[in-house]
Amino acid sequence: MTRLTLTRPDDWHLHLRDSAALAAVLPHTAARFARAIVMPNLKPPVTTTDQAAAYRARILAALPTGARFEPLMTLYLTDRTSAAEIERAKASGIVHGCKLYPAGATTHSDAGVTDLRKLDDTLARMADLGLPLQVHGEVTDAEVDIFDREARFIDTVLAPLVDRIPRLRVVFEHITTRAASEFVRAARDGVAATITPQHLLLTRNALLAGGIRPHLYCLPILKTEIDRRALIEAATSGNPRYFLGTDSAPHARHTKETACGCAGIYSAHAGIELYAEAFEAAGALPKLEAFASHFGPDWYGLPRNRDAIALVKTPWTVPADYPFGADTIVPWFAGESLRWQLAAESGQ
Ligand code: NCD
Ligand code: ZN
Repeated sequence: MTRLTLTRPDDWHLHLRDSAALAAVLPHTAARFARAIVMPNLKPPVTTTDQAAAYRARILAALPTGARFEPLMTLYLTDRTSAAEIERAKASGIVHGCKLYPAGATTHSDAGVTDLRKLDDTLARMADLGLPLQVHGEVTDAEVDIFDREARFIDTVLAPLVDRIPRLRVVFEHITTRAASEFVRAARDGVAATITPQHLLLTRNALLAGGIRPHLYCLPILKTEIDRRALIEAATSGNPRYFLGTDSAPHARHTKETACGCAGIYSAHAGIELYAEAFEAAGALPKLEAFASHFGPDWYGLPRNRDAIALVKTPWTVPADYPFGADTIVPWFAGESLRWQLAAESGQ
């Protein structure tokens, strides 16, 4: 196969940042995807519907002329998010979920939730109103090994939550382990997962063997080959509980190439092409469209996109860097070749 036409996909987990950084990265996403679930971990975080509306307006204002792209906003849950805020969020029509960051789990998560049980009234209102919870599924206890944090979260937080609030719709974001893919497969109705391209294509060897690669450091951290294979199996299975979410997370080069570097892989420049690489390697290209373009909107109760994109099998070299405000970002595959590219007529 040398050409692949897909219903235009959406990105169900994306970091767009703000100001000059937003303007730098948004065109990459908007060229490929019609919509994206926009993560709220700005500094300060997007915790209210009013802030989400203002951020949405800034995103729309940053779009290149003529581009069509719909940001689907989220609220950042804190210990103080009220049921009344959930009602405002739902009534706004622009907020499509609330993101749970366990406090301290990842970039800009210090304002996150310290004890989920204190939020049961808020979560119950989300369940009543059908507003999904997007979960960063890692425990933050310093004594838990970083490679075990997702699996531990399932047992100690996620499984009890899914039982305690039976109608809450939950997306287990960026799953990275066999344990997570099995949990989602067997979970009750209303539980789904996003899967990133890096967790489909890479293991921790890519990060750590033969030299440390700061641009491949993300959270949750890359795992083992057994985990990667389980994620490939899930993504290509045709099970509608698994869908695309890149978790593209740009950070300026100097904040990654340093003694204590930030977590986040930038992938928006090839946000759909990278999945084509992964699905092709798995012999499953015909399964890509449903994963990328159907299962996400179906789960969120939104219409599938009506237009299409095409990918062509024409190798291209990813630039060494992209401008990022006054800085640069180093994209995943910088200076290396990707086999698939977006056909010129697919950009918008
Ligand atoms: C994200 C970021 O940089 O905002 N980083 C990452 O490694 N994925 C935060 C997150 O989603 O965990
Ligand atoms: Zn993320």
